[in-house]
Parts: sequence; C-alpha cells; structure tokens
Amino acid sequence: MEYRQLIRERYSVRKFSDQPVEDSQVAAILHAARTAPTAVNKQPQRILVLRNAESMAKLKDCTLYTFNAPVALIVCCRKDEAWVRPYDGDNSGVIDAAIVGTHIMLAAHDLGLGSTWVGHFDPTALRRSFNFPDNIEPVAIFPIGRPAPDAKPSPRHHSRRPLEETVVYDSF
Ligand SMILES: Cc1cc2nc3c(=O)[nH]c(=O)nc-3n(C[C@H](O)[C@H](O)[C@H](O)COP(=O)(O)O)c2cc1C
Repeated sequence: MEYRQLIRERYSVRKFSDQPVEDSQVAAILHAARTAPTAVNKQPQRILVLRNAESMAKLKDCTLYTFNAPVALIVCCRKDEAWVRPYDGDNSGVIDAAIVGTHIMLAAHDLGLGSTWVGHFDPTALRRSFNFPDNIEPVAIFPIGRPAPDAKPSPRHHSRRPLEETVVYDSF
C-alpha cells in the first residue's frame, strides 16, 4: 500500500473477526518490526508473540484491552542493551521499542489486519504471567487480528490538534 494512504487509513482497531491470523502474516509483521531504526542500532527490543487461545486468556488477566484478538505482540526492551545518552543518562530503550511498535501497527494495516497500541496493562501481572526476566521491560501490547466487518475508528481517531498547536519554528 502506498505510504500516504497507509498512514491515513490506519486506526486503532478494537473489534476483530473470528478469522485466525496466519503464521506467515505474523512473520511478515515481525520482519517489518526488525527493520525499525534503533539508537546506535543496538536493537534492544524483544517481542513476545502470543498466538494461541491459552496465552490470550492469560493476557486478559493483565489488561482489559485485548479486544478478543487472536494474536498479540508484546514489545519489550532490554534497557541494559540500549544506548544511553552520555549528556544526561537518558536510556533509549523505550523509544526504540516505540519505533518498533509503530512499524508493527503499519505493517499490520498493510496486511489487511488491525491493531491497537495498548499501554494500559499491569506490568507486574504481565511479568508474572509470561515469565519475564528482570532485565526485560514490557513497553506496549499489540492485539492483532482481522478487523470485524463493523469495526470502525473511535471518535478520537478523527481528532488531531492543528499543527499550530504542536509545531513551533526556530524557538520555543
Ligand atoms: C502510548 C499509547 C498508549 C495507548 N494505550 C491504549 C490502551 O491502553 N487502550 C486503548 O484502547 N488504546 C490505547 N492507545 C490508542 C490510542 O488511544 C489511539 O492511538 C488514539 O486515540 C488515536 O486513535 P487512532 O489510533 O485510531 O488514530 C494507546 C496509544 C498510545 C500511543
């Protein structure tokens, strides 16, 4: 799909059909995720793939926002691998994971699938349910599936601040 059409059409899909997501589609999304830029190319992201009913049931104990999707990707980062800005010690792991997440959302839409970035989850429950090592931090959950025939964007999707409110030139 042409890029401008892709970013215009993508929206947070919160209602999925019963159709499964093919392994090949998951693989295509993971390959798109892999191409994401990361600071100093450290690639500190780790992606936990949930692709069966048992795992998706466990995920429901960690977030209200699974939308009964058949598949979910949990994008995480290893802060101990990520680049750290020497001036102020800022760790880029979460930023890197966010870029990976953006690739995931756009790749899903390109494949005719839908997803939503889910940040509203219980990290402690997630860690416990899926045996997270201490050095892996969950950043975002992406439930993925084929949009239901009546899926539609939420009103928020259509609300974007005017550029004048979010962009300044030359100096704040
Ligand atoms: C960091 C972040 C966290 C989010 N967390 C959630 C969430 O927990 N549940 C949810 O339904 N949507 C969540 N969203 C989706 C936003 O609500 C959505 O992207 C926004 O309202 C714009 O709508 P659109 O994606 O359809 O354009 C999150 C998005 C971002 C970027």
